Amino acid sequence: MKILIVANWKMNPASLKEAKNLFDSVKKGVRNIKNVEVVLCPPFVYLPALSERGLASVIKLGAQDCFWEESGAFTGEVSPRQLKNLGVKYVILGHSERRKYLKEETDEIVSRKLGACLKVGLKPILCVEKLSQLKGIKKDIIVAFEPISAIGTGKAFDVEKAKSARKAIKNNFVLYGGSLNSENAKDYIEKAGFKGLLIGGASLKGEEFIKITKSVDLISKI
Ligand code: 13P
Repeated sequence: MKILIVANWKMNPASLKEAKNLFDSVKKGVRNIKNVEVVLCPPFVYLPALSERGLASVIKLGAQDCFWEESGAFTGEVSPRQLKNLGVKYVILGHSERRKYLKEETDEIVSRKLGACLKVGLKPILCVEKLSQLKGIKKDIIVAFEPISAIGTGKAFDVEKAKSARKAIKNNFVLYGGSLNSENAKDYIEKAGFKGLLIGGASLKGEEFIKITKSVDLISKI
């Protein structure tokens, strides 16, 4: 599997026009990338339009969450099947912002969502900040280690500490996330041994995101 670079746009941008512009600039910028798979995770509302825009071979679409049932009376929710039918391939689950702001985002609920994604063939990316959140999680699930202190603070986690955390997580495919930019990104692959990155703020700046992707593409010869 290639190195994964996942863009978590969170609740941005404000308009479809901006979302299309960002998408188009990333698509253009990464077209010659060879060793990296780029996953763009916009808010749900932009997924249909971006999916119709056509994906470059290195770009896949991801969602930022989903529900655990396939269909039915669940007002406001989006099912894994609906995402799958839109051409979505990945789903971020259990992000710390959801765990913080939504009381119901417990480990148990996250694990139900995870099962629902696997059932329809979507690839979940499970966000954790501590090892206990991996209880009962199979080794082949993609895990994103996102220490709270590093999320959106501009203070990326110490590379050596991140490496220890990565080693403690026994899953086969572990990503790092938290205050990544084009200066520090490749260290987490090269020095700390992560197999990918989960990027928030810097993924909203087209040029910066492309720079990160290119820097990782250069070092990864998997
Ligand atoms: P930042 O890159 O803005 O710190 O966000 C990280 C994150 O939460 C990605 O999911």
